[in-house]
Amino acid sequence: MHGYNSAAKWLHWLILLLVLTQFGIALLMPDIGPHTVAGTLINLHFSFGVLIVLVMAVRLGNRLLRPVPLDLPGSPAWERWIAVATHRLFYFILLVGPFLGWASASAHRLRVDVFGLITLPGIAAPRAHWALAAGDVHIYMMWTLAVLIGLHAAAALYHHFLRNDGVLRRMLPARAP
Ligand code: HEM
Ligand code: HEM
Repeated sequence: MHGYNSAAKWLHWLILLLVLTQFGIALLMPDIGPHTVAGTLINLHFSFGVLIVLVMAVRLGNRLLRPVPLDLPGSPAWERWIAVATHRLFYFILLVGPFLGWASASAHRLRVDVFGLITLPGIAAPRAHWALAAGDVHIYMMWTLAVLIGLHAAAALYHHFLRNDGVLRRMLPARAP
């Protein structure tokens, strides 16, 4: 069967780990306001966010070079449509959303220091209105992402345990014959 290559599988589960960690950090970090000074958790949030964009870019490249047709045996058209839309939204939110967070960080005069290795330049003027609004959109996007992850995981488990088809196994490491 023409399925996901091992890079696609490993990157898929790596992103799950990074995104769950990122939500944990986002919930624990202090609220970001006009007088916020970046501490460890805020820097970790920025660093993980940048790492996630980089890994997603590699994933998108891999996916475009080796497209995998959706394989949902006997599924109605609406199910396939929702699956494809969810997958595309994952790429969109995880590739575009972090830049909105970066704009908000710049508007709050916070430097984006990536794991103490490099410091990214600001992309918005201090207190720029558009960038403060981008921060709100960043938050809405990421909570939408959390809902989509819940739906996507529930769908995968439903396929595996109730429909007993190979959808979840497609994303798991191949078993030795
Ligand atoms: C895919 C990666 C990311 C995820 C899943 C994510 C998730 C979140 C979440 C859930 C919040 C809301 C926290 C709360 O309500 O308490 C938040 C806030 C924020 N994030 Fe991210 N984030 C990501 C990437 C980034 C990046 C790369 C940056 C900056 C370089 C960033 C900067 C911010 C800022 C500044 C806020 C506060 C926004 C505001 O109040 O205007 N985020 N993020
Ligand atoms: C951060 C969380 C997650 C994200 C962003 C995500 C993203 C994606 C994306 C974009 C695809 C399409 C294939 C690709 O481009 O690589 C996919 C496929 C898949 N995901 Fe996830 N996923 C997440 C979590 C999960 C979880 C928790 C499960 C299982 C419980 C799961 C199971 C699957 C399965 C089985 C497929 C293959 C569907 C098919 O094409 O037949 N994913 N995922």
